[in-house]
Amino acid sequence: MIKRFVFGKAFDTEAVKDKPEACKEKIPYFENAETSSFSLEMDSSDIVYGLGENVRGINKRGFIYESFCTDQPEHNENKSSLYAAHNFFIVSGNKKNFGAFFDSPGKVTFDIGASSYSTLKVSIENTGYEIYIIENPTLELIIKEFRNLIGQSYIPPRWAFGIGQSRWGYTCEEDIRKIVENYRKNKLPLDMIYLDIDYMEKFKDFTVNKKSFPDFKNFVSDMKKNSVRIVPIIDAGIKMEDGFELYEEGKENNYFCKDKDGNDFIVGVWPGKCCLPDFLNPEAREWFGMKYKFLTDQGIEGFWNDMNEPALFYSEKNLEKVFDQVKEMKKLNIGLKESFALKDTILNLANNTDDYKSFYHCKDGKKIRHYDVHNLYGYNMTRAASEAFEKISPEKRILMFSRSSCIGSHRYGGIWMGDNMSRWQHILLNLKMLSSLNMCGFLYTGADLGGFGENTTEDLLLRWYALGIFMPLLRNHSALGTREQEPFRFKNSIEKFRNILNLRYRLLPYIYSEFMKAALQGTMYASPLGFIWSKDEDARRTEDQIMIGESIMIAPVYEQNATGRHIYLPEEMKLVKFKDSESYEEKIIPAGHNFIHVALDEVAVFIRKGHILPLADNAESVEKIDFENLTTISFAEKGARYELYTDDGECRNPSLSENLRSISV
Ligand code: GLC
Repeated sequence: MIKRFVFGKAFDTEAVKDKPEACKEKIPYFENAETSSFSLEMDSSDIVYGLGENVRGINKRGFIYESFCTDQPEHNENKSSLYAAHNFFIVSGNKKNFGAFFDSPGKVTFDIGASSYSTLKVSIENTGYEIYIIENPTLELIIKEFRNLIGQSYIPPRWAFGIGQSRWGYTCEEDIRKIVENYRKNKLPLDMIYLDIDYMEKFKDFTVNKKSFPDFKNFVSDMKKNSVRIVPIIDAGIKMEDGFELYEEGKENNYFCKDKDGNDFIVGVWPGKCCLPDFLNPEAREWFGMKYKFLTDQGIEGFWNDMNEPALFYSEKNLEKVFDQVKEMKKLNIGLKESFALKDTILNLANNTDDYKSFYHCKDGKKIRHYDVHNLYGYNMTRAASEAFEKISPEKRILMFSRSSCIGSHRYGGIWMGDNMSRWQHILLNLKMLSSLNMCGFLYTGADLGGFGENTTEDLLLRWYALGIFMPLLRNHSALGTREQEPFRFKNSIEKFRNILNLRYRLLPYIYSEFMKAALQGTMYASPLGFIWSKDEDARRTEDQIMIGESIMIAPVYEQNATGRHIYLPEEMKLVKFKDSESYEEKIIPAGHNFIHVALDEVAVFIRKGHILPLADNAESVEKIDFENLTTISFAEKGARYELYTDDGECRNPSLSENLRSISV
């Protein structure tokens, strides 16, 4: 059951489409002693699930999280917000089991037992907001109700479940042709190559550098003949340059965010000085969205939207101030205090709160301060693209994912998990984030495999892929200046990489089927064990294993030099260790605590009793997968049945009932 509570005059985030009637009664569970602050007492059995893209555990207890979309590449325990704002959580314990969605577009703070271990306190900065409380006996039903409330999750084309290769540093056609050649030569499957900012002319959106891509359309079509889609990046900031059509049109039509005096607000991003499209204004959204056509007309079928928190290197006004301050400081004898002050002055230039407070959107003729609706910016950039795609490509799905997001944008696109680092702890963080994101409606998601920042190593990349092959969005991406990390760079391990990557394509019918069922039914693609074994205390407290769909559990190795790992099985399961894509070992593992060995080139999967894992043959790309002739591995002495979902992989309104096919053993 869902109850809606309205406080003050709320800005409509459009996270919820069909709002239930507002309740007059007092909000349950929470004490509302101070304005815009809600607290509740937790007992020791309570687990707090949710909050989507964030640091720390599946169980969020013991830290203060903040919803304020931030360009934050340090995904460390001490950070409170990353690129997204996902204000939904579930409190699940002996005495309570409910979900809460705090629908507010501004900053919201969730102190989940940090200030006091037994108190959960939510503080909302805006004075108008809505809260939804969802009560249901099971976690599965709470999720279903919540997902039904916020609408169906975005579904990408099926080829987007293939393997993607990306790097900030591919600059021209030749670079990309070589990467594809190396993949194919080494028999590594591949479906996508991503273009980062260097494909553009001076980092200007919706341009292609003619020197590096003399015949872009032809290049895109050539790649497609080789079953590789080219997926370009689009950034939020538009270069201020006289004569640049996009800029001129935006300026002319008042499509940019304004300062308090009504002038275009000027910020610095990759191209230097930029203006920010006002994605909250429906006309500006439509205008920007239709610009994607420049690239779709050249055969492009997918995009990633970036820097849309929005990330600001500086604002023009603040930069001037800082230059003056630094000039003043030149006169000083820089000691301890001054040197810190100097450093802070420079560091505070980027993503500065005062900047976010000093520009405005225009919606329905009303001026709205950006800071108060900050979390809707990336959301509406994704929406701009997605709404345009419906017109540009009414029949076929287009790939779209974004860095910044907010609940609501899950209907328009997927997200990647932002700029992580080549660190072992980030494998585990991705696993946890995956299930937390699913709760909030984000299904098409994945991390930069191998790590975006810093230098990766062969073993880290192998172990990361062993998790990544279960993520709907599977992309190896790295930053300029870091070690090159395409799998074929690691000459001694190409076979190991091949085996793991091939397995993705063998598993793809299952992964796609489970993804589609989750999207169409509002269920979880990746679940914490506590969602299934809710009475099993060890399962509820397991933070490093998850279920992928109904049949399998995964437990990736995330420690360097480990030969295996501890696992907890809530029930007897069949361990399948994939060695190479043709052969595997099977073993029944009893319920309870166990240790399993998993070599660097192996992938371990646990099949639940009474379940089936369908497998396809190897394929070098998704379109070459034979979805008709599948083999199975099962753990089903008494027989079992699996409902496989398959479709043409591109239709926009797929139907669950028409696309299911039974597989029995
Ligand atoms: C941002 C993105 C990253 C990209 C870089 C350059 O940091 O998150 O993925 O490579 O910008 O465009």
